Amino acid sequence: MDKAKYFYVTTPIYYPSGNLHLGHAYTTTLADILNRYKQSQGYETFFLTGSDEHGQKIEKKALEMGLAPLAYLDEKVELFKTLWTKLGIGYSKFIRTTDHEHTTTVKKIFTKLLDKGYIYPGFYEGLYCVSCEEFLNPDQIDENGLCKVSHDAPQLVKEETYFLKVSSFQDFISELLSGEFILPVYRQNEMLKNFVDPGLKDLSITRVSFAWGIPISEDPKHVVYVWLDALTNYLTALGYLQDDGQLFEKFWSNQSEIVQLVGKEITRFHAIYWPTILKMLDLRMPDKLLSHGWIVNDGEKMSKSLGNVIDPIAYINQYGADGLRFYLAYELPINKDGNFSESMFIESFNAHLANNVGNLISRVNNMISKYFDGYLGDDLTITSPLMNQKINQVIDDFQQLMDEYDLSGAVRKVLDFSSFCNKYIEEQMPWVLAKEEKLDQLKVVLMDLQKAMTTISYLLKPVLVFSYPLMVDQCGVSEPEVLSYRELKTYQNLKFKKLGEKKVLFERIKPVV
Ligand code: MSP
Repeated sequence: MDKAKYFYVTTPIYYPSGNLHLGHAYTTTLADILNRYKQSQGYETFFLTGSDEHGQKIEKKALEMGLAPLAYLDEKVELFKTLWTKLGIGYSKFIRTTDHEHTTTVKKIFTKLLDKGYIYPGFYEGLYCVSCEEFLNPDQIDENGLCKVSHDAPQLVKEETYFLKVSSFQDFISELLSGEFILPVYRQNEMLKNFVDPGLKDLSITRVSFAWGIPISEDPKHVVYVWLDALTNYLTALGYLQDDGQLFEKFWSNQSEIVQLVGKEITRFHAIYWPTILKMLDLRMPDKLLSHGWIVNDGEKMSKSLGNVIDPIAYINQYGADGLRFYLAYELPINKDGNFSESMFIESFNAHLANNVGNLISRVNNMISKYFDGYLGDDLTITSPLMNQKINQVIDDFQQLMDEYDLSGAVRKVLDFSSFCNKYIEEQMPWVLAKEEKLDQLKVVLMDLQKAMTTISYLLKPVLVFSYPLMVDQCGVSEPEVLSYRELKTYQNLKFKKLGEKKVLFERIKPVV
């Protein structure tokens, strides 16, 4: 495929059975950063998130609260949206699986698969975890008979159901998972070993024991089981099988790069059942499934059911959204589980944002103001060859790593470059050049640094969305809106203005004792 023109990125749709916590914020922040990065690369993008509103768990929760399911859900969805706004999440669409367009399309998809012979009626017996909304295999159950993820006791379910013929797609899935579909690749091997190689089983896709779901037209006592309903949101949100399918034409086309983010516990659904459904519908596969690890507390997954959750809103209110976005992107690479605590957060904020990037911008800003009255002149070509080379290198490295979806690695390159610049100040000793009145030399050093910190600010823009305007203001950029990634290396459109009022960026946080 030629370089894609469109970029489609999705998060899982979250269950509104409780409030969102830092784990959910993690996935959504990574998706947001990728989306903003791709926009900076000139892609037309579509970023989807939403809520997964059907199923037994939601039905039960609403009942407990004494509310009709929709009344309960409306409130929760408002809270989801408030969190995303506070966290700077620029999604294109928020889908709810109770949306009319979604429910009608799910019925159409069911009918289509039934007509094609991929669905058949049968009888299911198995252990079901309501919290995970999943039938469990023996290896998903611990020695006490509890679900290994939620630690809840599964229920024995025996009922009539419709099955999806996943078993007929054994070869297809084996081949897909032998390529480069999932990142990190070792999770792909886990899927093969645990689920595919032992032989794929057909999937139960309807239930008759609860009502809060989408009834199928052919046999309305059956409602679609959450996963077929949930997974197809990625298509229905684009208008698939609806009158206005324009978004679908663009973003599910071969000219689109499709990236889906999920936590590792739902990789199986996105790596096996989802590609099978797409194949049955004769649709293309996504390009990449980014399957990230968990945020853990003492080795246990942070989750509502375990009661060890961190509320992102509390952090945003206290420290600002950018600090949190930075931590999630930089300190939690997707290939392993990671930790989060208030002291780790503060340490990271201080070391990287306050003492490194913030300090660099502040020092350079001070020196330009002090020695050149805030303006180095309009000749931007005076940069030293060394700094030119370093700037080009960090841009290339950042771009390469982001294109490989290594957000943490990409941010690290920028931080390393910022450390280099702080050292460069120590080595060049601008204050000595000023004292000795070597003003031409001094100007080159400061121009080097002014361009360097502008580059750093621009590269971190997808992460530090709220701070970016102040960062470029403190760098002295006169028209930040015309600055674009493409021109970053040549600085064609870069103009500096006389530096104005000095403001503090990333103020150091006092460590908690
Ligand atoms: N509704 C399903 C997903 C359907 S997608 C078609 C679901 N929802 S959920 O509310 O349980 O959210 C699961 C997602 O939240 C995970 O895939 C992951 O992205 C995120 N996380 C929840 N807890 C997490 C951690 N402790 N750590 C990291 N991410 C976690 O499953």
